[in-house]
Amino acid sequence: MNSLSLLLLLLLLLLPLLSLSKPPPPLNPDLLGLIVFKSSLLDPTSSLSSWTQDSDDPCNWAHIKCHPESRRVVEISLSSLGLSGKLSRSLLNLQSLQKLSLSNNNFTGFLIPDLTQLPNLTHIDLSSNGLIGEIPTKFFSQCESLVDVNLAGNKLYGQVPSSIGSCWNLVSFNVSSNHLSGSLPDGVLSLSSLESFDVSKNFIVGEIPDGIGKMTSLRSVDFSGNLMSGGIPDSMWKLWMLSYLNLGSNSFSGRVPDWIGEMKWLRVLDFSENGFDGSIPDSIGDLKFLQSLNFSGNGLVGNLPESMRDCSSLLEADFSRNHLMGELPSWLFELGLQKIFISGNKFSGKVQFSNSLGQSLLELDLSGNEFSGEIPMEIGGLWKLELLNLSANLFSGGIPSSLGELKSLEVVDLSVNRLNGSIPLEIAGAASLQELRLQKNFLNGGIPSQIGNCSSLTSLILSQNKLTGSIPTSLANLTNLETVDLSFNSLQGSLPKNLSNLPHLLSFNISHNNFSGPIPPSNFFNTIPPSSLSGNPGLCGSAVNISCPGVLPKPIVLNPNSSSQNPNTNSGITSANIRHKKIILSISAIVAIGAAALIVLGIITITILNLHARSHSSSPSAAGLAPPSDYSGSPANTDANSGKLVMFSGDKPEFASGAHTILNKESELGRGGFGTVYKTVLPDGRPVAIKKLTVSSLVKSQAEFEREIKKIGKMRHPNLVSLQGYYWTPSLQLLIYEFVSGESLHKVLHENSAAQSLTWNERFDIIVATAKSLAHLHRHNIIHYNLKSSNVLIDGSGEPKVGDYGLARLLPMLDRYVLSNKIQSALGYMAPEFACGTVKITDKCDVYGFGVLLLEVVTGRRPVEYTEDDVVVLCDTVRGLVEGGRAEDCVDGRIGGKFPVDEVVPVVKLGLICTSQVPSNRPEMGEVVKILEMIRCPGQDELSSG
Ligand SMILES: *[C@@H]1O[C@H](CO)[C@@H](O)[C@H](O)[C@H]1NC(C)=O
Ligand SMILES: *[C@@H]1O[C@H](CO)[C@@H](O)[C@H](O)[C@H]1NC(C)=O
Ligand SMILES: *[C@@H]1O[C@H](CO)[C@@H](O)[C@H](O)[C@H]1NC(C)=O
Ligand SMILES: *[C@@H]1O[C@H](CO)[C@@H](O)[C@H](O)[C@H]1NC(C)=O
Ligand SMILES: *[C@@H]1O[C@H](CO)[C@@H](O)[C@H](O)[C@H]1NC(C)=O
Repeated sequence: MNSLSLLLLLLLLLLPLLSLSKPPPPLNPDLLGLIVFKSSLLDPTSSLSSWTQDSDDPCNWAHIKCHPESRRVVEISLSSLGLSGKLSRSLLNLQSLQKLSLSNNNFTGFLIPDLTQLPNLTHIDLSSNGLIGEIPTKFFSQCESLVDVNLAGNKLYGQVPSSIGSCWNLVSFNVSSNHLSGSLPDGVLSLSSLESFDVSKNFIVGEIPDGIGKMTSLRSVDFSGNLMSGGIPDSMWKLWMLSYLNLGSNSFSGRVPDWIGEMKWLRVLDFSENGFDGSIPDSIGDLKFLQSLNFSGNGLVGNLPESMRDCSSLLEADFSRNHLMGELPSWLFELGLQKIFISGNKFSGKVQFSNSLGQSLLELDLSGNEFSGEIPMEIGGLWKLELLNLSANLFSGGIPSSLGELKSLEVVDLSVNRLNGSIPLEIAGAASLQELRLQKNFLNGGIPSQIGNCSSLTSLILSQNKLTGSIPTSLANLTNLETVDLSFNSLQGSLPKNLSNLPHLLSFNISHNNFSGPIPPSNFFNTIPPSSLSGNPGLCGSAVNISCPGVLPKPIVLNPNSSSQNPNTNSGITSANIRHKKIILSISAIVAIGAAALIVLGIITITILNLHARSHSSSPSAAGLAPPSDYSGSPANTDANSGKLVMFSGDKPEFASGAHTILNKESELGRGGFGTVYKTVLPDGRPVAIKKLTVSSLVKSQAEFEREIKKIGKMRHPNLVSLQGYYWTPSLQLLIYEFVSGESLHKVLHENSAAQSLTWNERFDIIVATAKSLAHLHRHNIIHYNLKSSNVLIDGSGEPKVGDYGLARLLPMLDRYVLSNKIQSALGYMAPEFACGTVKITDKCDVYGFGVLLLEVVTGRRPVEYTEDDVVVLCDTVRGLVEGGRAEDCVDGRIGGKFPVDEVVPVVKLGLICTSQVPSNRPEMGEVVKILEMIRCPGQDELSSG
């Protein structure tokens, strides 16, 4: 109870006292009742703002009606105002109330037991709220005035109280959609005025009471959606005034009674989802006003009775899921029906429409029967048709082109038949089409490009046919497409690139065809499940983990091993074999740097001969990977179009005539998420490391690529591996790095023998140098994205150099999936925000990686270690030790020499702070450098001047 209602109650208590001293003011109980009622409510839209004590006549308030003479409140209508709160007993103050409607709000709590004792109350509508509890017996104990009670759509439970029988003036009783249980009380049988009786959607059990025949005023009975059982009692035939009878979704059984034909006023008859058996009585034809007939989901047998021809008002007939059989009677289409559902029976024979009939039909579902023969061309006459489901029958022949005349057609399902021929291009005339399902037939020919006109199409399912040809580019115009299944056909060609523009795509299955070429670049296709693409050996791109070969003009490829392979100038790369052998781009391919160099706009452009991939496997079935030509002569190609080489230094490398560089297996240094790295020597004798990007299909346009690369190329820091140049073609990108002799930190820490292990000072130096290099990158707005110990090289003089920075920016978009799965593949370094789609990735992700690397350097342990039955995460282990006051225990046991504990503890703690789960809790790299310099004990600071 809130303070306002308390105040009012106090007021109520005080009033009699006041009246002793003064003549009593005319007290308006309605006003008080309403104010107290309001005080127990939440009124988010201020619908009741006029309800204030300032205006002392509630008859002027909104949603209130008063009696013209007595000025007492007779009606409260607060439907759909978004009100919530409990029903207040103060409503009992409104003694003249006749109608109370609070429907479709959020009232909660219990019913007021004596509400119906308001002497003149006739209508109660509390439907669609959140009321709970049982219906109190008292609720109906004095209810002679009640005419209309609606408690539907609440959470009331328990039984319908038998006291209901005393509401003998009741005309309408509705408790639909609650949790009521038990059986119908005998009390209801005395409601001789009741016209509408709705107890649907509860948990009511038991049989229909035999005395129901006494309720002769009934017009509408809805028992649907309960747990009732038994047969239909014979006394029910007395309810001849019924116009609505719904017994659907119960467990009724027995036969549909013959006397049903005597309920001449029936408009709706629903016996669906029960256990009725036997045949449909002929008397059904006597129901001249019947509009909706639903016998679906029973055990009815026999044919549709011919007498039904007389049901001249019928609009919907649903006989789905019974055991009916025979031919589809032609008169069914003469009745002017809008919906015919007979799916899941045993109807057979041919289906015939005559041209002039069935013109009102909106939905036709004949699926799951044994219809055969052709789909008649006359179907084009059903010009209002919206849904056509003929699936799972034995239809043969072609798809009638007349379907294209059906301008309202939204769903067409002809799947699982024996249709042959091609998909008629006229189908595009069905401009409202949303779903086209033709799977599991024998269709051949191509997908008509006219399908691009069906702009509402959301589902296109053509799988398991014999379709040939390619995907029409017009498909990419269907921006509403969500589900496309073309699997198990013989389609081929490349995928239209602009498929990547389809914004609502949820699934795109093209498996088991002969598609080839690149997979369109987009978020959707980057994360498409492999099973949607499988069985198309020619596809390439990151989604299938096969890089796409270039389509360069006249590439020249040196390939000493190619003699056994077929020349193949197709850009498609046959990769299934590669994938199965888990050899991804096993390179024994060659890049030759041409002898002749051209200077274009101050940039040296030379010819680099195309690097071409072929399978390391010499399996003859790996043909198709073969390079364009055998060429082992001098690579004296001066075609400037074949590639662009840029050296940032502006140097003009001295190329000896005929010199070339071979990137092959022997010169391979290693592989990473972005590509394979080769050591090579430029013609001027300078050693460089060349990284060939393998995610080439993800790389941006040339302009964007160059912009990002030049940004990275500007980085010069003693602890960064410098990028010295690059080579660009649309299909091949090489990054030319300074060559660092030495090993990676990862090797030093984890693959060397204990004897060669690093001292504390060396480790500290590595930590500080790495921190400085990252701080430098961050100052220039470059995020590393891929920090891990294998990307830190220790050069000949022991100086660490961080490599592989900034490359994630080369992806068309910073795709978290790609980042986390392909690039940041090294487990343990990845900041938690990568997994969280909503957190922005900032340079704080590098701080996290740095923290892990710091702990790795101190402990000499991998970020994540797998033991037989456990996964050990380094940060967690260290955190545990530090919290237990044993920080020094985490230092690598192999460490050479002593180490200062006053340095170890703060360094380890710094590492833990850097690996905070929340990015904003991690320090900036610049701060990290400063902290490290403060931690280092005086006299040992060798690097702070860098
Ligand atoms: C009832 O409240 C819930 C949230 O508590 C809200 O989502 C819903 O729309 C409300 N219903 C009505 C009819 O106001
Ligand atoms: C109830 O209605 C009757 C008849 O309309 C009327 O005479 C009587 O005053 C009403 N009772 C109250 C409490 O308003
Ligand atoms: C019962 O009330 C519900 C909710 O207001 C309504 O949808 C339904 O049509 C009512 N039943 C009858 C028979 O009027
Ligand atoms: C017939 O009843 C079933 C189940 O009660 C329902 O799903 C179906 O939509 C109904 N048919 C028609 C035509 O309304
Ligand atoms: C796609 O739609 C555009 C505009 O509606 C049209 O100009 C273009 O021809 C269509 N493309 C195809 C391949 O049908």
